Amino acid sequence: MDEGFSGGVAVITGAGSGLGAAMAGRFAAQGMTVFALDIDGAGAESTAQAVRDNGGRAFAMALDVANREALLEAARRVEEMAGHCSVLCANVGVQQFGAIGALTENDWRWVLDVNVMGVIHTVDAFLPLLRKAPPRRHVVITSSSAAYSPGIRMGAYTTSKYAVTGYAETLRLELADEDIGVSILFPAGMATRHLESSRNARPAELGPSETRRADIDAMMQSRKIDMASHVATAEHATRHLLEELCENRRYIITHGDCRAAIIDNFEELLAAQDRALE
Ligand SMILES: NC(=O)c1ccc[n+]([C@@H]2O[C@H](COP(=O)([O-])OP(=O)(O)OC[C@H]3O[C@@H](n4cnc5c(N)ncnc54)[C@H](O)[C@@H]3O)[C@@H](O)[C@H]2O)c1
Repeated sequence: MDEGFSGGVAVITGAGSGLGAAMAGRFAAQGMTVFALDIDGAGAESTAQAVRDNGGRAFAMALDVANREALLEAARRVEEMAGHCSVLCANVGVQQFGAIGALTENDWRWVLDVNVMGVIHTVDAFLPLLRKAPPRRHVVITSSSAAYSPGIRMGAYTTSKYAVTGYAETLRLELADEDIGVSILFPAGMATRHLESSRNARPAELGPSETRRADIDAMMQSRKIDMASHVATAEHATRHLLEELCENRRYIITHGDCRAAIIDNFEELLAAQDRALE
């Protein structure tokens, strides 16, 4: 693995826990300065402290990615403190289970505001700092295996992950000439605080985030996934991250086996294409 990222600056949203915290550890191990951004300020600070305890350089910022101004302010502070951004991880995503029709307008607005507009705000705010950075420069957008093995009872989440996948595909094409890499991260199930942190992060005025066990069970049964390999730790999910970024991979599947779903998707798409040519 080349030295490309060492000594650089990594900005990670949702770094207070789970995948974001694991990514912070991976980048810090490369000698990168880490900025841990999260709505859970204490979580972000504990991630930054863990990096500092290992002799690294890290800073925490409490913010809501649905708040565009907050991200612009965070970018101004990162520019003052570090001058640029080498790796940007737009990683925040909240979960809300429920059947379409049962999901409320507040459920849809919340999930799309955080999972889609949050990613757009994050990239808009930090793209100028990526452009100021010496090579390597990279953007990592966290999607989900739900974006190629969809299931029932998580329509808002899946819609948001298809949306950020389309956004990331476009961003990758548009930044290629500037030699800024873009990778789409497709984690399978991870043993993180995802449901709990989502509940905690939901704005009070939208009412509580209800999670029904029956929805989760129905969702898991409806997906073409190999349960044995589907759930892993965030540490395991990031074991190949740096190598994959160094190869500027378009797609990064972190773990799990969704081959059956992927093959089904493309076989049906190809068949539809063949019919169109008849
Ligand atoms: N856990 C899984 O099974 C799984 C599977 C596939 C994809 N993902 C995706 O991985 C990413 C990370 O999830 P995780 O499993 O590590 O969950 P996590 O709960 O451990 O981490 C998510 C972090 O995001 C923060 N957050 C939530 N809303 C926020 C907001 N509005 N602004 C700023 N921070 C906010 C939370 O406080 C939390 O620290 C998400 O995009 C998620 O959709 C998770």
